[in-house]
Amino acid sequence: MKVAALGDLHVKEDHAAPYRELFGEISRAADVLVLTGDLTDLGKPREAEILAEDLRACAIPVVAVLGNHDYESGCPDEVAKILKNAGVRLLDGQAIEIDGVGFVGVKGFVGGFGRRMLGAFGEPAIKAMVAESMNEAMRLENAMRQVRSRRAVVVLHYAPTPDTVEGEPLEIFPFLGSSRLAETIDRFRVSAVLHGHAHRGRYEGRTPGGAPVYNVAQHIPKPTGRPYALIDV
Ligand SMILES: [Fe+2]
Ligand SMILES: [Fe+2]
Repeated sequence: MKVAALGDLHVKEDHAAPYRELFGEISRAADVLVLTGDLTDLGKPREAEILAEDLRACAIPVVAVLGNHDYESGCPDEVAKILKNAGVRLLDGQAIEIDGVGFVGVKGFVGGFGRRMLGAFGEPAIKAMVAESMNEAMRLENAMRQVRSRRAVVVLHYAPTPDTVEGEPLEIFPFLGSSRLAETIDRFRVSAVLHGHAHRGRYEGRTPGGAPVYNVAQHIPKPTGRPYALIDV
C-alpha cells in the first residue's frame, strides 16, 4: 500500500481551494491519504468547510487526526463533524482497517522526551498536564489493541521522539511531543509512525524500539520533493 501523508495544512478562512490540486495529485500517486492534524489554522468551522470542499478532489480514503490548532476556537467537535461528513476517517483513540492495513490515531500531547520528560510532581496544574500526556498514550494503547492486521500505521499530531523535531529550537522540544507515545508504540509491531506539529523538524527518525517515524508537516523537505510524503507500507 502506498500511503501519502501530509500534516499542518493550517487552512485559513480567506484561502480559496488551497489543497484542491494537491489532493488530485495525491489521489493519482497513493492508495490512502493520511492527514496528521492542524488541518485548520484556528479551529474555525468555516476553515473546516473549506478543507472539506477541497477533499472532494480526493478520490482515495482519507485518514486523519486533529492537531492543537483545531482546538483553538473551542469547537473541535464541530470541526470533526464537518470533516467526517466529508468522508474523512477521523481517529481519536480508534483503529480502522483499510485493505489489510490497520490505522491507529490519537492527537497525542506535549511533555518532553526521554529522561527529561515532565514528571507528575508539584502543583496540580503540572500534574494535570502530565495526566493528559499519559492519557493520550493510554488511548493509543487501547486503540493499538484493536488492530488485527499484520501491518499497522500510527497517526499522531505530536511527535513520539526527539529525532524528528531536531531543527526546532531546543527550548520548545518539550512542547512538540512526548516519549510516552513511543513507549506505547514500542510495545507493538508498527510499520510506520506519522506525525506533524514540528514545522521545522526533520523528516525521518525512529522510536527507541526502532519503529520508523516520519514528520510529514508540509513544510518539511521530503524525498518526494512535494509537500506530502509517500510511504510504502
Ligand atoms: Fe502546525
Ligand atoms: Fe500543531
